[in-house]
Amino acid sequence: MTPAPIIVLGIESSCDETAAALVDSDRRILAQAIASQEAEHAPYGGVVPEIAARAHVERLPGLIAQVLDEAQVTLDDCDAIAATAGPGLIGGVMVGLVTAKAMAMASDKPLLAINHLEGHALSPRLADATLTFPYALLLVSGGHCQILRVEGMGKYQRIATTIDDALGEAFDKTAKILGLGYPGGPAVEKLALQGDAKAVPLPRPLLRSSEPHFSFAGLKSAVLRAHDTGTYCDADIAASFQQAAIDCIEDRLNKALAQMGDVTALVVAGGVAANKAVRGALEGLAQSAQLPFIAPPMELCTDNAAMIAWAGLEKLAAGASGDPLDFCARPRWPLDRDAAPARGAGVKA
Ligand code: KG4
Ligand code: ZN
Repeated sequence: MTPAPIIVLGIESSCDETAAALVDSDRRILAQAIASQEAEHAPYGGVVPEIAARAHVERLPGLIAQVLDEAQVTLDDCDAIAATAGPGLIGGVMVGLVTAKAMAMASDKPLLAINHLEGHALSPRLADATLTFPYALLLVSGGHCQILRVEGMGKYQRIATTIDDALGEAFDKTAKILGLGYPGGPAVEKLALQGDAKAVPLPRPLLRSSEPHFSFAGLKSAVLRAHDTGTYCDADIAASFQQAAIDCIEDRLNKALAQMGDVTALVVAGGVAANKAVRGALEGLAQSAQLPFIAPPMELCTDNAAMIAWAGLEKLAAGASGDPLDFCARPRWPLDRDAAPARGAGVKA
């Protein structure tokens, strides 16, 4: 008789999405619910940590009850409770982690403290059972911009990082300059469809530099200057910005792939992976490198709890039995602790 699949409840609360999901070891998402806080943060043009933490407190219990109800699963049927334990906005992370700890204690189930970046990094394996280690990963979100060699659960070699802004941050700041509101990435992508990507001369920071690191702060400043001249229409600025960002990604990834050794695939994850122009460029790059290209479905790209539950399942499959109930939330938690800081970089992981 085949054993019953393992079920993990996942909780995500590290930024501005409150989410809960039930995922099983057969890669089935039994139920998932996400409450976005866009409306609360929109007046401020970015995420306000205190507002985010309070919104997580208000919404998380209802979302957990909703997924259990939808999947017709009780807490007793779950094999473990997984929650994001960092990196992220510490107030929000604590809300999710403390909730998971309380549920684990009350139900006598293991707690799995998950690195949010690990959730993104492994999410493509939830969507695609054929994806095996080691793979090359471009992780592009609002807070992170890294190229990693994913060698196994808990085993990551960071090949490149950003020395200043993350790519999602650059999209969000461009949106702010163009008055497109928050969150900016999808709005810039939409406006770029109507613009000419060659209209505005913008820099490609670090292009052709010997190390494959990223830098987007100079590009953002150039977008601001181009906007302030009043010479260019917003759609042309959006399209030119997106193209400059894509050119940087392509150049940096080619460099990183050459340094990485054998990999099974080129994989993209994180919120910016929802961008169709970015996906298209990566697909072409993978083809040239003769690698399969794998991108999770859109709903698994931006923050969600299914990826946290899945990382929990991977952790169990790798032999983990659970984390201590006094596990502390971590505002910073690099995937590769041994990675040397990039030259010129700030403090970001
Ligand atoms: O992974 P994610 O949901 O949250 C973090 O962990 O940061 O990523 C959010 C980021 C935001 O910066 C958002 O603007 C960006 O991903 N993003 C996009 C798109 N959808 C989301 N950027 C470009 N194009 C998109 N379609
Ligand atoms: Zn994220």
